[in-house]
Amino acid sequence: MEQQIKNKFSNIFGAEPVMYCAPGRVNLIGEHTDYNEGFVLPAAVDKQIVFAVKPNSVGRFRFFAYDLNEQFETEEDKIQKSDTAWANYLLGVVAQFAKAGKRVPAFDCVFGGNVPLGAGMSSSAAIEVGMAFAINDLFGLGCSRLDMTKFAQMAEHEYAGVNCGIMDQFASMHGKAGHVVRLDCRSLDFQYFPLDTTNHLLVLVNTGVKHELASSEYNKRRAECEAGVRILQKYYSGVRSLRDATMEMLNAHCQEFGDVVYRRCSYIVEENARLIAGCKALADNDFAAFGQFMYGSHEGLSHKFEVSCKELDQLVAIARTVPGVLGSRMMGGGFGGCTISLVEKSKVADFERAIKAGYKTPDGHEPVVLNFIVLWISYLHYILLSLVN
Ligand code: GLA
Repeated sequence: MEQQIKNKFSNIFGAEPVMYCAPGRVNLIGEHTDYNEGFVLPAAVDKQIVFAVKPNSVGRFRFFAYDLNEQFETEEDKIQKSDTAWANYLLGVVAQFAKAGKRVPAFDCVFGGNVPLGAGMSSSAAIEVGMAFAINDLFGLGCSRLDMTKFAQMAEHEYAGVNCGIMDQFASMHGKAGHVVRLDCRSLDFQYFPLDTTNHLLVLVNTGVKHELASSEYNKRRAECEAGVRILQKYYSGVRSLRDATMEMLNAHCQEFGDVVYRRCSYIVEENARLIAGCKALADNDFAAFGQFMYGSHEGLSHKFEVSCKELDQLVAIARTVPGVLGSRMMGGGFGGCTISLVEKSKVADFERAIKAGYKTPDGHEPVVLNFIVLWISYLHYILLSLVN
């Protein structure tokens, strides 16, 4: 893939590019908690977006989306949201550097990769993060990883219209081989946890239903959580976000919340608790306990937060019937995309069989099952790629 993208660059722009890449991510537990200043537990994986980039002297940004075979260009000093959806991810990042007072000179870029689109594996975050990393490195702009993570997140807010949290961009920027990372989305402190894959694997199953985060439900959930916080703040001065809420607080004011906001808020409080307990289980190598937290997470996402869909629920229901599947849940923003399951290695083939026998995608195909997910070989890969080329 790297070679193809590099060749494409040379064909279009007649020059040798510098190569970069950024990974997609999985999330073991802690969904929709990031924008509530809670915890998440993602890991970068070996699916990636690759970039071929080089400064040009024509005063224009010229982008080519390899997978779509589409080109986009705009004048260097006219960065604004465009009608081309994919270009907005790149333009949004350029705009963030500019906002931070870092001038980004004109460049050419070809990008493409194998992070499945709309599958909840953060292909858009990988595009934003890879673009930020490439610009920073190519022009020596001196931004930190955290700065670039935030630029990538703000690109999503301002140019893609999704008020996402920081998890996806953070995970793509901070992946470490063989580890998941627990991120405190308030302080942005993080801790790596080794994931022992000797006897257990993470298996993704793609429903084949594309999620449409920007299509309002995501932003609506965020607004519902904020409405809950506003109610709590009338009674508890120390509450800044749902991170500070407890079930006692919610129960004391459940009338005022109303059914929907109460369920949204209680899911967040419980999910943060599941994540903290889940990390302890992981540290103790207690995969059975961790798996139960994953099932609990799915229940909450489905019934309280209501971001699942019938296909995701169906896949989790099948997972529950297969011995050796310790846990399973929808992953990412929801409304489609993948489930993530924790499976005993010796039972992965049984699981795959059961899934293929019991589930068909909406267009009648067998679902794509991604197992043996290799955790990302750390961010060194970015640098290796640029050195090799
Ligand atoms: C999307 C967002 C993330 C996060 C997840 C849900 O992936 O981009 O910030 O909120 O949904 O956990």
